[in-house]
Amino acid sequence: MSDFITPSWSLYVAGMTVASILACLILLWLTARKKIVGADDNTTGHVFDEDIREGNNPMPRWWMWLFVATIVFSFGYLVAYPGLGSYQGELGWSSRAEYEAEVDRSNRELAPLYAQFTARKPEEVAGDPQAMAIGERLFMNNCAQCHGSDARGSKGFPNLADGDWLHGGSPQKIAETIKGGRQGAMPPMAAAVGSADDVRNVAHYVLSLSNSPHDSVRAQLGKSKFTACAACHGMDGKGNAALGAPNLTDDVWLHGWGEQAIVAMINNGKTNVMPAQAGKLTDAQIHVLASYVWGLSNRPPGTKP
Ligand code: HEC
Ligand code: HEC
Repeated sequence: MSDFITPSWSLYVAGMTVASILACLILLWLTARKKIVGADDNTTGHVFDEDIREGNNPMPRWWMWLFVATIVFSFGYLVAYPGLGSYQGELGWSSRAEYEAEVDRSNRELAPLYAQFTARKPEEVAGDPQAMAIGERLFMNNCAQCHGSDARGSKGFPNLADGDWLHGGSPQKIAETIKGGRQGAMPPMAAAVGSADDVRNVAHYVLSLSNSPHDSVRAQLGKSKFTACAACHGMDGKGNAALGAPNLTDDVWLHGWGEQAIVAMINNGKTNVMPAQAGKLTDAQIHVLASYVWGLSNRPPGTKP
């Protein structure tokens, strides 16, 4: 158990567990031994509210034996199952193994269903309503927390429904993204650009690429500095899918629009990570998901507009 940083923690927890069970037993024994000297009428002698008296009967036998039985049971349980510090239990049961067995079983049960999808091209799968219903559910469970339930993303999380791609929008590229994850990394570029004023000028040049409102004098001054950016974003600013460098000419902004956002990008850079899903999803699920995501911005062949 990785939660225990040192073996002494495990011993400590195991000791506390056994001690608290024994304490229950001692409590029972002490209370059974204690004789209460009360009045002769089988009460403790306490009187409350004038005439309410406390009876002095022994605890029922069956109740006491049940108490003892639960204590005996707890020791049997602790031998069989994990419960004493990091001791795994004689039966070798673990919640993780049980969970994995359940996932395996359901994957096996669903294999024939998925087989009909994996046998077909993603473009065709995107036109199959049953596959798309499954794709939508997979998306809700695994992707919506970052990309939004409508897949339209938010700041820092790309919109997957707009046909604009950082890493490529073919079903193969999308599957590759889901499987292995992606990292988009832009280093801080201010030093390569020059002064703070130069940085603002390049930002206005970038804005001019998409015909966004900009200061044309600054844009003209910033143009020559854009060579520092061209290695990744291309001379024309149209981006490079192999590097995940976005197209700066299409007025689609992942990290915010306007001079301030772009200046911050140039000064600070950005590392943006899409986590790999290969360990969480089967190949068949990834196939269906890639078809689903592709279908959000493409019309599958044979379907009506
Ligand atoms: C923890 C958040 C997170 C989760 C969960 C997540 N993504 Fe992403 N995803 C991102 C980020 C961030 C990026 C952008 C990476 C970059 O900037 O290069 C991204 C990028 C992508 C891209 C590439 C977009 C492009 O324009 O090329 C695709 C496709 C994608 N995700 C699909 C999915 C799918 C399908 C799932 C569910 C199986 C998923 N993502 C789950 C955060 C997430
Ligand atoms: C080493 C490659 C590299 C260089 C050099 C580079 N960038 Fe980037 N840039 C990227 C990547 C990759 C991203 C996407 C980051 C992400 O995935 O979130 C990006 C994102 C951006 C964005 C955000 C786009 C959006 O949609 O919000 C802007 C603006 C930008 N870069 C401008 C510049 C400018 C201006 C320069 C030159 C001063 C520059 N970049 C140099 C790789 C680069």
